[in-house]
Amino acid sequence: MKLVKLLANLGYGSRREVQRLIGSGAVTDDSGGVLGEGDFPPHDQIRFRDEPLDPLFPLTLMLNKPDGCTCSADDPGAVIYDLLPERFAHRNPGLNPVGRLDKDTTGLLLLTDDGKLLHKIIHPKSHCLKVYHAVLDRPLAGHEAELFASGKLILHNETKPLLPAGCEKIADREALVTLHEGRYHQVRRMFAAAGNHVTALKRISIGGLKLPGDLAEGEWRALTAEDLAALFASTEAHKLVR
Ligand code: URA
Repeated sequence: MKLVKLLANLGYGSRREVQRLIGSGAVTDDSGGVLGEGDFPPHDQIRFRDEPLDPLFPLTLMLNKPDGCTCSADDPGAVIYDLLPERFAHRNPGLNPVGRLDKDTTGLLLLTDDGKLLHKIIHPKSHCLKVYHAVLDRPLAGHEAELFASGKLILHNETKPLLPAGCEKIADREALVTLHEGRYHQVRRMFAAAGNHVTALKRISIGGLKLPGDLAEGEWRALTAEDLAALFASTEAHKLVR
């Protein structure tokens, strides 16, 4: 890959803009030597305005999604991409959310440019469980755990029952809900089916990967090899779906 194409694919600009940036001396090697279009040192030695380049494909990020932004780049209001460097929205291949969260749901959101990884995480057969902390309008009635685990609950306007899901009471109006799948507004609709209403919802883990306590709302970081291993580490222990 040529330097211009690499930088354009990483979202630093269109090919023409990148050519101009290279011409202006913005792209150097790690000892400050200005690079031209024909140069192509190893990735970790290239600097853009003195900063190391973003990682190549595949890139997977975790974001602590705040309330009030949507997961769709096309929405008119605040979107998750506003929380990332602007160039991330222009990467090729693009970064896509791994299962969307509602506008008012907070917590762990993964974004990846790796389509195979994305499908592996969201497919129920991967047993990559998603855990949500739900705060409720009214106290739990006591029947929720059995209802959600039944494998028979059919949501309003749907025909296919939900896969069995976990529900652990942690306070009168708070529960941890564990899902194998990700249907539209699923947790909110499950509690609506149980006669309750979710007032706050936060995703706290995906597979064995927990939302780190030191990642503040609105912050993101790239997943490490350890994070990726943790993501699938719990799957053997949770083979509830056959
Ligand atoms: N369930 C919901 O209701 N909303 C989300 O954002 C995720 C799961």
